[in-house]
Formats: sequence, structure tokens, C-alpha cells
Amino acid sequence: MDSFLKKVDFFKGNKPEDIVKEYGTPLYVYNEDIIRDRMHKVTQVIKKYPLTANYSIKANTNIHILKMGYEEGINADAMSPGEIEMLLKAGFESDRIFFVPNNVSREEVEYAVKKGIMTSLDSLDQLDLYGQVNPGGKCAVRLNPGVGAGHHEKVVTAGKKTKFGIAEEDVDKIFEIAKKHNLTIAGINQHVGSLYMDPEPFLKAVENFLRLAKKFEKLEFIDFGGGYGIPYHKLDDEQEFDMESFSKRFEVLLDKFVEEYGYAPLFKTEPGRYCVAEGAVLLGRVNATKHNSGKKYAGTDIGMNVLVRPSMYDSWHDVEIIRDNEVVSRDNLSEITVVGNICESGDILAKDRMLPEIKQGDLACLLDAGAYGYSMCSSYNSRPRPAEVLITKDGQVKQIRRRETIEDLMRLF
Ligand SMILES: Cc1ncc(COP(=O)(O)O)c(C=O)c1O
Repeated sequence: MDSFLKKVDFFKGNKPEDIVKEYGTPLYVYNEDIIRDRMHKVTQVIKKYPLTANYSIKANTNIHILKMGYEEGINADAMSPGEIEMLLKAGFESDRIFFVPNNVSREEVEYAVKKGIMTSLDSLDQLDLYGQVNPGGKCAVRLNPGVGAGHHEKVVTAGKKTKFGIAEEDVDKIFEIAKKHNLTIAGINQHVGSLYMDPEPFLKAVENFLRLAKKFEKLEFIDFGGGYGIPYHKLDDEQEFDMESFSKRFEVLLDKFVEEYGYAPLFKTEPGRYCVAEGAVLLGRVNATKHNSGKKYAGTDIGMNVLVRPSMYDSWHDVEIIRDNEVVSRDNLSEITVVGNICESGDILAKDRMLPEIKQGDLACLLDAGAYGYSMCSSYNSRPRPAEVLITKDGQVKQIRRRETIEDLMRLF
């Protein structure tokens, strides 16, 4: 594909230079149609049995995006009281929120109980703490099924080498603690890792989890976690995750389980990335280009504080170059490294990439920036966080978060 921006008319006729003239760079630009489409799709994965898609909001907590999710019928996962507050502010009722924290304090557990939010406990200690705070209550447990998968070791969240969940061999201890505090274990959840393009590992994890589920009686819900991938290499024609064939195979596994278990509990998934990643691009200004010892660099104002994924996980984001509001064609490519403005040698957005010629003053546009983009921003080097704008269904450009200012940073002292 020569240009994703052109293929989907990402800016809906708006000129990128007009947008950044008004809101500055770096700038996250969201497309409402794409986000709504993906959010709707995750609610349709299983039709035969009751299913809730819990959007894992750590991927993107912008309240305007959460509201879209609410309207599309998704529920949500929160990892912290802060995320719960974001969801409540966006209009989510408590029973549409699932709290899936790890290593939380007594105060945080009390907070969730007071708000009436179903909570999953991620260790035996935390289950015991929950029992002390809410004896006779109802909760869930996060299990570590002993296998994990994902695009980078830092996103593998199950298996013998990770901190998450309660190991299978400790299931009996779950029942002991539940009995001690008269707790009902209403649900179980897992999340084995992120960014599956191949459904195989996810389906294997589902199968394994359903085997574990049978150790629990009268479950109200079973939550399989998130992880659906998106094609980050779309300019090289990488294809979308095949939701349709995945759904069919998922349903076959559920059929078998329902028959053996005797009824269908509510099934849940926790997609984060899939809902929002493709719905945003990140625009930055190329402030300088140079050669260093024969290597070409394009220096932008998109520092690793604005998008940390490439430096944290070696993640790939396709880059398109915009000059005078036109996407520069990919007919003539040469190797170049695109970097940010942070004082770290690891401040690299795209290493040794084949890209069109880049000139000072161009706009660099990083694709698929909607998930774990803004939500992982920092103000490192005292660079304020960027603004976010939304291209609405009818093509308006609406600011959905203002740019942070130096005064915002000073306010904490
Ligand atoms: C517990 C849990 N659920 C859901 C997710 C969402 O994963 P993804 O964005 O890959 O769908 C994560 C991400 O790490 C997670 O830790």
C-alpha cells in the first residue's frame, strides 16, 4: 500500500498543515469512524452466547474515546482507581466496569468495593485482603495458566516467568481463602499477552483456560483477556486480524465447554489495542535532517516521551511523510532513521527505515498510534504532553485534550 492516509482518507478532507497550525505538533489525531468500527467489531466476536467486550482502557483513556465505546456497547476494564474515575466520568455505570488490578493497597480495594465494582484479585494475598475488606462478598480471580504469548517479552503476561495471576497449582488455596471469608468466586480471568495476528496462540489459551474453568463451580463469567493484533506493517500490505475465522473457531471451543459445564456463563474479552490503535496517527514536525558518519537522520519533535513504544518494545510504526499537505510518494526510497528531540540515544522512532526523501519542515506521520500512545506519554525532559484532536464522523476537527503547558508542570511544586 502506498499510503494508508490516502486509502482511508484519514483526515477527511482536512489539510494536515491547517490542523497543526491550529493545534501545534506533536499532535495525536484520531479518526472517529475507525475507532467506532473497531469498537463495534469487538462486541460482535461471539453471537451465540452472551459476550461482553471489556475495552482495556489502559490502551487509551481519553474520556471522549471512552464515551464512544460506551455508545458502541462496550464494557471496560480498569487497572487502577484512576482508570475507574475516568470511566465513571465518561458515564460508565459501575456494573459495566471490571477492576483488574495487581498489587493494590487496602485503600484501593476499599475504594472498588465502595463503588460496587467487580474486582479480580491477582494473588492469594490480594484475595485474602479482599476477604478482609469485603467478607461475604463476590469477586473474581486472575489465573496464570502457565503459558504466555506476545510480540515482546515485556507484553507476555502469563507463564512461569511473569508476575501476573495465581498459578494453577494454587487453585485449591483460592477455595480455602474464599471459604475463610465466605467469598463467592463469581468469575475467573486471564490475559496471556498482546498482539496476536495469528489466532492460534489465543485459541490455545482459551482451550486451556476452559479446562481450568471446570475446576470452579457455578461461575457467572469467564474472561479470556485481550490481545487481538492490528497490522502495524500495513504499508507492506500486512493483513488485518481475521476476526471472522477466529470467531468461528472460538465458538466451537465454547460449544464444547458449555455442553460439559451444563450452562453458558457470561463470556468476556479484554481488547485494548484492537479498539483504538488504527484510529490515530501522530503528527510531528521534522526540525532537522543530517548525516552522522554516513547515516541519515530526520530529527522530529516526536520524542520518546510522546510515543515510547519504539524505544520500550522496539515496536514498529509505519511512517508517512507529508509535504505541503500531500503525502510524499514511496517511489524513491532510501535508508533513514527517524528520531525525536529527547536527550537519550534510545530516542528513536523508526530505525534504518526505507522512506521517501525527508526535508526540514516536512510533517512526519506515524501510523497506528492510538493504543499505548498518549496513555504512555510522559513529560520527560520537561516536555509537556501533546494535544489530541478528533476528526469527527462529519469531518470536523475537534480538540479532545489540550496540550499540556509548562505551567501545568510547575503546578505540582
Ligand atoms: C489484564 C489485561 N487485559 C487486557 C489487556 C489488553 O491487551 P491488548 O491491548 O493487547 O488487547 C492487557 C494489556 O496488557 C492486560 O494486561
